[in-house]
Amino acid sequence: MSFVVDVDVPVPMSDGVALATNVWRPEGPGPFPALLVRTPYGKDDAGMYGNPKLPDVFALVAAGYAVVAQDVRGTSRSPGTFVPNAHEGSDGADTLAWLAEQSWCDGAVGMWGGSYMGFTQWQAAVRSAPALRAIAPVMSSADLYGAPWYSPGGALSQDAVLTWGTLSALRNLRRDLAAGQEDPADARVLLAGLSDPRLLHDPLPVANRGALTRYLPWVGEVLDHPERDAFWQDVAAIDRCASITVPAFQVGGWYDVFIGETVRAYTMMRHHGGSAAARDGQRLLIGPWCHADGADLGTFPDRSFGLGGSIKAADVTGAHLRFFDRWVRGRTETPDDANRVRIFVMGIDRWRDELDWPLPDTRYTEFFLAGDGRANSATGDGILTRDTPSVEAADTFLYDPRRPVPTLGGTVLAAAPGAYPGPADQAAIETREDVLCFTTAVLDRPVEVTGHVTLVLHVSSSAPDTDFTGKLVDVHPDGRAIVLCEGIQRARYRESLTEPTPLAPGTVYELTIDLRVTSNVFLPGHRIRLEVSSSNFPRYDRNTNTGRVIATDGEDDLAIAVNRVHHGPTRPSRLVLPLIERAEVLV
Ligand code: BEZ
Repeated sequence: MSFVVDVDVPVPMSDGVALATNVWRPEGPGPFPALLVRTPYGKDDAGMYGNPKLPDVFALVAAGYAVVAQDVRGTSRSPGTFVPNAHEGSDGADTLAWLAEQSWCDGAVGMWGGSYMGFTQWQAAVRSAPALRAIAPVMSSADLYGAPWYSPGGALSQDAVLTWGTLSALRNLRRDLAAGQEDPADARVLLAGLSDPRLLHDPLPVANRGALTRYLPWVGEVLDHPERDAFWQDVAAIDRCASITVPAFQVGGWYDVFIGETVRAYTMMRHHGGSAAARDGQRLLIGPWCHADGADLGTFPDRSFGLGGSIKAADVTGAHLRFFDRWVRGRTETPDDANRVRIFVMGIDRWRDELDWPLPDTRYTEFFLAGDGRANSATGDGILTRDTPSVEAADTFLYDPRRPVPTLGGTVLAAAPGAYPGPADQAAIETREDVLCFTTAVLDRPVEVTGHVTLVLHVSSSAPDTDFTGKLVDVHPDGRAIVLCEGIQRARYRESLTEPTPLAPGTVYELTIDLRVTSNVFLPGHRIRLEVSSSNFPRYDRNTNTGRVIATDGEDDLAIAVNRVHHGPTRPSRLVLPLIERAEVLV
């Protein structure tokens, strides 16, 4: 294959700033369709070209596309100041317009890239640039409040904000240092936080992050906006689905910090996309992966999904090419399967093609919380059962934000000390009195759970505000308790993410927790477990239980809450599982 690369082409934006852009073209005059990626991580960084989650640039050029990689404003070789999300809509639209005018471009453009590079795609798609034909966000989000910065229940996604914020602040600081402007001591503070997550996460108030907010003031703004207010609504592509007229191919991971929003973007676009192509052309591919680089092999210390679970086995490049050939090249003869969705089903550890998401044959089934009121820890008496409970009871625990439940795997971005993101064994936390465990009897037949998992709890608290968490866990015959999916609900946001209402201490409320999604067959000999508690730190910030602004509460403000989960015939606390009951479940 021969190709030409033009490096650091200045692409003018409408305000006069020129963004540094590399253009890879197949040899010859063209014109070629173009595939644009806009990144804050450095278009010249080797990570762009060897990341197995992203399509292989060489294969895209070999297939006849021009590949265009641009440093977003204020990063790497592009001038200006990096303010996350502030310019991506307009800069994306300006770049698409420029591309359409190039003699080597045939006027049809697709966009691709993961995470932040996915945010830039959704922002550009909202602007309806005529040249844009399709987008392909990998492990990304169209609602930045829901993921990665907060969560559907209103808790701050602390690990994502502080870890990603620190990495981005360091990149800004490096530019200033190179210009001889900054104090290297700030770099040492930021680097210390990255090497010891306790230094990054433990200090209170959460909002006091001097070195971080100095180099990335945007983090301060994130912490100033705990509600899903105009600050978030203005950059929420998901609120503007009707303006998006191009289809999206999305790649997700069951253990990715973005997974809930990845599937929500899919379902919202399927129903509310702004054209028939956008609605019909949605595609989804989900494997047993985490966000972190290298965590996409499908092999983790407590759980291996086999060779088929590796991202390599999913042929991400081939899937991108089929999608772009259909929607950017307009090749209708390209096989475009009736199956819009391809998922890795854990438990049976196999790939499966599906018509749509949620799976059309889903049966949402209630599993009730039961027991005599001592569900504290995995050795307690908590039961999870399909039978409607006949006895009223309540399980009580103390939630002390000074000793929160540590994050053990799940959809966390970075690993907590001694842990890793993904399918981790929960044994170490299931001994705690503040972790309630509700478990089914040993299964004598396979039970498939694929889709959206919801937890409905009847709760009361001594505090004016607190959190409730839920985790769905697969208990293996050897005792490993492997987390599948999880969620958190901040009580003050139980009715609205924009208008918080305090709890009246002691009053019982019904609260719904979005545990997001999974696909898992619980095999015979396994048990289904639900964990309930009030913290998962540092995946989420700690609720200080004061009812005040959490990010500005200090160590001395922390209050202990007495939290209670009620269950029984009049207070039917329940886990709602998306069951798939097919004759052909392969075990
Ligand atoms: C990423 O680009 O990988 C990323 C962006 C925001 C939050 C977390 C990860």
